[in-house]
Amino acid sequence: NWLMKNLAEELINELRKKIDGKVILGLSGGVDSSVVAMLLHKAVPDKLIPIFVDTGLLRKNEGQEVVKQFENLGIKIYCVDASDRFFKALEGIEDPEEKRKIIGHTFIDVFYEEAMKLKQQHGDIQYLAQGTLYPDVIESKVAERKAGAKIKTHHNVGGLPEKLPFKIIEPLRYLFKDEVRALGKELGLPESIIYRHPFPGPGLAVRIIGAVTREAVSILQEADAIFIEELKKWDLYNKVWQAFAVLLPVKTVGVMGDYRTYENVIALRAVTSEDGMTADWAKLPHEFLNHVAKRIVNEVRGVNRVVYDITSKPPATIEWE
Ligand code: XMP
Repeated sequence: NWLMKNLAEELINELRKKIDGKVILGLSGGVDSSVVAMLLHKAVPDKLIPIFVDTGLLRKNEGQEVVKQFENLGIKIYCVDASDRFFKALEGIEDPEEKRKIIGHTFIDVFYEEAMKLKQQHGDIQYLAQGTLYPDVIESKVAERKAGAKIKTHHNVGGLPEKLPFKIIEPLRYLFKDEVRALGKELGLPESIIYRHPFPGPGLAVRIIGAVTREAVSILQEADAIFIEELKKWDLYNKVWQAFAVLLPVKTVGVMGDYRTYENVIALRAVTSEDGMTADWAKLPHEFLNHVAKRIVNEVRGVNRVVYDITSKPPATIEWE
């Protein structure tokens, strides 16, 4: 596509002109930061330092997969396992906004400390690159205007930059998601990254209703992995904007063989959307949902019930917290 080819060249040239010191990038493995990584890799390969922070709140096996995928692209990532710190900071916290705040702050602390370590190794780091998109810019502007009104915050917009002593680079700030995906394709990113569903900064913490524990994360990861695996098998993954499992803080009664069970409930959420600002619940085939529910109850220890969320946004949000 010549349009994307031009855009890619233009963005790469701009970055090459602008950047004269080292640049760090918080790489999440999502399409946005991955496209930024590719742009920087093509523009200033020897100046790019991508950092991947493992919060312990990621999807199953996500950390290893991201590192491998970027190694295949010739990009070496600095990995920081900070999961202990995140779990400790989140201990006993139930309020969604409180969780976001804690995760945001912990992330900034970890990122800052790593950046300072890297500064000693690599010398002058002048820039921080971010995968901010146009809708992020708009949403945070709206949020600013509504300040005082209690709306959901997205910590990854705005929070990180001001506190760090780097100049901010946001090459995607005028683009929408579909354009970023097209750009990623042009830059040679694999489809598994380009079409990966968006994932919230606070990760699985906002998909565990109530307090976050390692055990809860592990149950959720297993259920979520089954849902995603089946969506791919049934060729439905790319037909929805986002799909994920949520772990509810209720136990319900079930029966298994001759035994009564009293276990956790998993809610499945899948939506179609253009940009995440509004969304419809996805009309997934009943046979598919049936199959996924059976697998989750049979394979994930501690889960005996699966429900499907049939609310759209608005009035619900995509995430449950
Ligand atoms: P909601 O739940 O507000 O989500 O309808 C809209 C989109 O934003 C994602 N989301 C977040 N992303 N930090 C993020 O980086 C957050 O705190 C956060 N909360 C929601 C959500 O996954 C959806 O794509």
